[in-house]
Amino acid sequence: MSSPAFASALLRNCASCTVSRCRAITKSPHTLGTFYTKIFVYQKYTEKEIRNITVAHREAKCLSDKIALGLVRLLRWCTDFVTGYRNPERNKEIADKFDMTERKWLIRFIFLESVAGVPGMVGGMLRHLKSIRRMKRDHGWIESLIDEAYNERMHLLTFLDLADPGIVMRLVVLAAQGVFFNAFFVFYLVSPKTCHRFVGYLEEEAVITYTHAIRQLQAGKLPAWDNLSAPEIAIKYWRMPEGKQRMVDLLLYVRADEAKHREVNHTLGNLDQHEDPNPYTALYHDGNNAGPSASPDAGKPIGWERDELI
Ligand SMILES: [Fe+2]
Ligand SMILES: [Fe+2]
Repeated sequence: MSSPAFASALLRNCASCTVSRCRAITKSPHTLGTFYTKIFVYQKYTEKEIRNITVAHREAKCLSDKIALGLVRLLRWCTDFVTGYRNPERNKEIADKFDMTERKWLIRFIFLESVAGVPGMVGGMLRHLKSIRRMKRDHGWIESLIDEAYNERMHLLTFLDLADPGIVMRLVVLAAQGVFFNAFFVFYLVSPKTCHRFVGYLEEEAVITYTHAIRQLQAGKLPAWDNLSAPEIAIKYWRMPEGKQRMVDLLLYVRADEAKHREVNHTLGNLDQHEDPNPYTALYHDGNNAGPSASPDAGKPIGWERDELI
């Protein structure tokens, strides 16, 4: 089966065919209604911040970086095959064959987000266990990592509100999670630094993917999404303002999140994994907090170097 044909068998329904039916998926079956946690309150981004996100690449400087980048390229190839995707910038001669539709974008988003939710949870879990085991403080890393995993799961739940994955896709996600969770778990025990760099490179790819989708939508190539409102779960989570609750706004928010994960993980990958505090949660003793902030456009798309922070 060719890659596009395989990809087309992955969804039963999507937002471009039967939106109302798809949207029943994330509706809570409980009488209390839909659950929204107050623990992970979303840091609100401004319109300017979410529009200012740019594609960026951190040069691989050492062997650990090169291993991380190589693994991301391998993973990207597998994901491109499964989701029937080719980056038009890198595949100009066959770009038409791989023209993306709303349905194909949803397949890609759902697959990507189901994988993206794994690293933060594994890293947070292992640091949590290490803190308990060694009876030492963690210095603020766990919160950031678990928050990232939660944020990625919100991306997934949002796109699940627009599509109905079929049995093939569920099996692919199951297999991918089984392999990726265990591989990342072992790698994180061996070299957490390489793992954060790996996630930084993965997020570089996520920003490229969402930028491509936003451009297509703005160019009128995804007509079913032109006036489609973002799912309710997304409007509440991102606290999307009135008049800015369409699909294009949703993709801008998701891309901003990915850009933030890119910066955070590249920064964490530059730090001493055992001793350094997490600069995203720490407050400096001298009150000088000119370093990392929660803004998605902190002017450091490829992360902060250690000597700028510590
Ligand atoms: Fe994501
Ligand atoms: Fe991400």
